[in-house]
Amino acid sequence: MNTSENRLVVVSNRLPIVIEEEDGDWRLKPGTGGLVTALAPVLRNRGGIWIGWPGITEEEELDLDRILATSTKDSGYSLKPVLLTSEERDKFYCGFSNEVIWPLFHDLQGYCNFDPNYWAVYERVNRKFANAIARYAGKDDFVWVHDYHLMNVAKELNQMGKTFKTGFFLHIPFPPLDIFLKLPWRFQILHALLEYDLIGFQTLRDRRNFVQCIKALIKGIVIRGKGQVATARFENRDIRFGTFPIGIDFHNFAMDAAKPDVADKAWYIHEDLPKSKLILGVDRLDYTKGIPYKLRAFENALERYPDLHNQVRLIQIVVPSREDIPKYQALKLDIEHLVGEINGKYTQSGWVPVHYLFRSLEKTELLAYYRTAEVAMVTPLKDGMNLVAMEYCASSLEDGILILSEFAGAAAQLQRGALLVNPYDIENMADAIHQAFHMAQNERLLRMRKLRRAIRNRNIFRWVDSFLRAAIAKNLDNFPLLEDYFPEKDMNGIP
Ligand code: UDP
Ligand code: G6P
Repeated sequence: MNTSENRLVVVSNRLPIVIEEEDGDWRLKPGTGGLVTALAPVLRNRGGIWIGWPGITEEEELDLDRILATSTKDSGYSLKPVLLTSEERDKFYCGFSNEVIWPLFHDLQGYCNFDPNYWAVYERVNRKFANAIARYAGKDDFVWVHDYHLMNVAKELNQMGKTFKTGFFLHIPFPPLDIFLKLPWRFQILHALLEYDLIGFQTLRDRRNFVQCIKALIKGIVIRGKGQVATARFENRDIRFGTFPIGIDFHNFAMDAAKPDVADKAWYIHEDLPKSKLILGVDRLDYTKGIPYKLRAFENALERYPDLHNQVRLIQIVVPSREDIPKYQALKLDIEHLVGEINGKYTQSGWVPVHYLFRSLEKTELLAYYRTAEVAMVTPLKDGMNLVAMEYCASSLEDGILILSEFAGAAAQLQRGALLVNPYDIENMADAIHQAFHMAQNERLLRMRKLRRAIRNRNIFRWVDSFLRAAIAKNLDNFPLLEDYFPEKDMNGIP
């Protein structure tokens, strides 16, 4: 799928770069978040075009084509921008996408703002993306749309009479029926999803939830097949759907983390924080990531296990995200308050227990933290997959320890090597910290070997191949049965 006749056209709300104003000048910054990290190597490898929003609004006038062309000069793919007005930014991006779908699909209904004004703008922006696809894609290209911002795009393309082959991949969880039912636009969203030719989910649980919802809410739908990819027959069409757990470019992380500049930085991090083990947290500023619970668990461990005093430090990196949304602003204050409280209570001369960084890191710096930390603590309340967990294992010491939430999609693949915890259970997480601190080296090595093997096998290139094969295969006979493809079973929530 990489000739000029049938290219891969990736469509996501985010482009891999963000344009930002700094000191009166425009600068390009890499985008943050798992979607961008995952898709960039796919496009580098296959070529094609990537359509998305560069983070600025229509009102800001600048020579975008020139800026974007420079940013991907040698990358083998091109970026095509879709600009939003400031109203669209507020009601489509901050509003419908991040105040309705994001919290609801992460089972956090209490965080939703079901403002009725958001929906029309969500529809309008999805139409805008469909128009951009119609402009840039050729008739034989495969149009692969990503994530919850763009669930309506295939519907818009079909209404325009465009006959592209389309796929949709949901990077975030799909909620269970009793939660999905609360969505005021539940019928519109399910009908829109069923206009794609192929729909992909991260985990078995997400796919089960989706099937439960369409069975309950869509009259006349018939589900066929028990394989990794199955079909839904609806209005004389066969819509394929399947489970495709995303991965990372394992070798790239492992190789880059082994480079001398990363090794130097890693050495300095530990040298500056002597005589203690480092526990690392790397999360976007997001209430789904469970950062306050993690901080409470660390505090609880210090309270109940005095042998940890002076011996461990938590380095919590919080990457700025969605800061115009009130719930995100409140979370930042919460985190800063907790960090202050813990440090105020436990700091001794030469030992500050929590090191808090609020910024995004250059890749070398991030890899240095991954490489040097003895433990990583990845404890989201719910997460589509969580790539930080995988990146840590690919880049870290051979005997690093991963403490991982049962509710991260990654738990299904990593359950055998990680210390799994319930992120709501503060004492259980504190115990895991203590267990990690005392774990014997042979157990650490064994666990990390299992983790690295799982991540190497289910890497990003395997993900893209299996999705594209499911999209173009004449029939589904050659796809494995679910129990063969996922011998590890679904973990989420079942210890
Ligand atoms: N990341 C980043 N900048 C940073 C720190 C992390 O871009 O300063 C990346 C990290 O490498 C990872 C992604 O952000 O690929 C986070 O993905 P994840 O799936 O863990 O969570 P998401 O943020 O997508 O919810
Ligand atoms: C998650 C979502 C992505 C999103 C990313 C960063 O990974 O699944 O679609 O791009 O977070 O969030 P942002 O709002 O900055 O795009």
